[in-house]
Amino acid sequence: MNRFENKVVLITGSGGGLGKASALRFVEEGARVVIADIDLESAEAVADEIGSQAKAIKADVTSIDDCKAMVQTAQDIYGQLNVVFANAGVGGNKTEFVDMSIEEWDRVVDVNLRGMMLTCKASVPALIEAGGGALVLMGSSTGGWDTILGSGPYMTSKEAVKAMGRNLALELGRYNIRVNVICPGIIQTQLSFRQGDQDRDAWKHFFGKFSDRIPLRRVGQPEDVAATVAFLSSDDARHITGSTLLIDGGQTLQSWSNSPDEETYP
Ligand SMILES: NC(=O)c1ccc[n+]([C@@H]2O[C@H](COP(=O)([O-])OP(=O)(O)OC[C@H]3O[C@@H](n4cnc5c(N)ncnc54)[C@H](O)[C@@H]3O)[C@@H](O)[C@H]2O)c1
Repeated sequence: MNRFENKVVLITGSGGGLGKASALRFVEEGARVVIADIDLESAEAVADEIGSQAKAIKADVTSIDDCKAMVQTAQDIYGQLNVVFANAGVGGNKTEFVDMSIEEWDRVVDVNLRGMMLTCKASVPALIEAGGGALVLMGSSTGGWDTILGSGPYMTSKEAVKAMGRNLALELGRYNIRVNVICPGIIQTQLSFRQGDQDRDAWKHFFGKFSDRIPLRRVGQPEDVAATVAFLSSDDARHITGSTLLIDGGQTLQSWSNSPDEETYP
């Protein structure tokens, strides 16, 4: 498939994880990509791996100047911008509400929600200039369907992204810009590995416990998310806007509180 030939795609937080996997997928389908990340070294490593179809830029999505600069980079180097995957996000430090500092709340919401808004604010004029395009926003299955102890600001920001996506879809349709939100369940990346170390056995054990309980019996892989982002950004999804798509292998179908006994897991 060459769905993104002659298209330019900007991906925030693409120095690793789901952003990187999506960048690789877009390039595989013919796109040129701007790899934006707060960590320039990791962004450059991804761009080097891709080669001439990629340009790395250091951009913190909580800065409007950085957001404008990443859009400008796409326009200066490739002449246009057609697709934006607003992916950058942070997990938070898993502190329960009574112990959580206000600074921690602000830090997580600032990246996950305000950063998403700033990415859109800076990108939309370029998408309009290109005659339309697609915006894919990163939500989470844990925002709205589910929740996690000690993750209040994460959950709140991810749920809010869904509302923002619907609102943008309503307002931007007339410019031929489609806006959709993806909500992955657990996907095997460094962010979701909450053990804080790199030990491969701990990693296998951690994700193994999830796959036992996910109806499809597997933990999501970055490529699963990348394929969905590519679909939503392509003309195959030309009549889809304002949607919120779960990518979770059925993880959220049956909550623990509805079925606390081990044997009731199908
Ligand atoms: N992995 C999962 O299970 C999962 C599930 C649901 C949603 N998500 C969401 O997917 C997105 C990517 O997650 P991931 O698992 O690939 O995480 P990751 O930590 O592997 O990658 C996130 C990237 O974002 C970058 N980043 C962090 N703060 C930034 C900022 N202010 N500006 C620009 N870049 C910044 C990091 O440097 C990193 O390269 C996040 O928004 C996350 O909340 C992940």
